[in-house]
Amino acid sequence: MNLKGRSLLSLTDLSYEEIHHILDTAGHLKMLKKAGQPHQWLSGKTLGMIFEKPSTRTRVSFEVGMWQLGGYALYLNPNDLQLGRGETIADTARVLSRFVDGIMARTYAHKTLEDLARYCTIPVINGLSDYEHPCQILGDLLTIQEKKGDLHGLKLAYVGDGNNVAHSLIFGAVLVGMDIAIAVPEGYEPLEQVLELAAGLPSPRKCSVQVVGDPAEAAQGADALYTDVWTSMGQEKEKQERLEAFSGFQMNDLLVQKAKKDVIVLHCLPAHRGEEITDSVMDGPRSVVWDQAENRLHIQKAIMALTM
Ligand code: CP
Ligand code: NVA
Repeated sequence: MNLKGRSLLSLTDLSYEEIHHILDTAGHLKMLKKAGQPHQWLSGKTLGMIFEKPSTRTRVSFEVGMWQLGGYALYLNPNDLQLGRGETIADTARVLSRFVDGIMARTYAHKTLEDLARYCTIPVINGLSDYEHPCQILGDLLTIQEKKGDLHGLKLAYVGDGNNVAHSLIFGAVLVGMDIAIAVPEGYEPLEQVLELAAGLPSPRKCSVQVVGDPAEAAQGADALYTDVWTSMGQEKEKQERLEAFSGFQMNDLLVQKAKKDVIVLHCLPAHRGEEITDSVMDGPRSVVWDQAENRLHIQKAIMALTM
């Protein structure tokens, strides 16, 4: 399998073997980092990072990761680029391809990423779009694998908004052979297109993908619980109505008790404490959110090393 030169826009770009190759490489890079051993696998390479939206984890982990790999990362704000004055995505892609060896972009529209990838001659990595967040979910799979030993046959329950993170979790779960139950309020379901695509994805086992209206039903028997903000970046105007719609969908101690005793709780962060997750769960014994955040670094180093 060869990921060199390939873009990563969606988890559906990857096979079971490729996902495990990325997880294995990330585990190896993590071991080297912890042992203080040099791993400058991308010496002399550069990464352009375009951010249409804010970021803490994605920005810092890509930038630091590139540095640890011996390369250099540039932060590019669209308003500082000529993009902000009307230069097309296609022309920007053609020009950046002459300067840098890879692009990581965080965009509103997923189509912006697809257009970038179409006109770039270098790999384009999705650092979150309104449709998917593949780097996040690959890091999450690494975290679940580290905590549970094996991903095969586990049950993941996601409670909250059927958003970009939920979409990538659905694809990721099916591709690695986990069951997934998504609990969402009516009107906030994942896109139908995602469920249809997931049903046709190759999987090592017959996975169950359920969308339900009851968080307790989703959490029942889960090995891993997951939540994300109720109001994603760009949806700030809907905040009040979302607070009301999601009021019964909080990750709290009562919900955690419905899952398996050894359940782990994940959140991609940033968290709105007191909304989608309580302090007692986030800071409690089942939470793995800080290890999960750290794994963004290791997984993205693997993605960059393998594609660039
Ligand atoms: N989880 C995540 O992508 O965080 P940032 O928005 O801080 O990058
Ligand atoms: N769903 C969230 C994820 C943030 C990492 C958002 O898009 O804002």
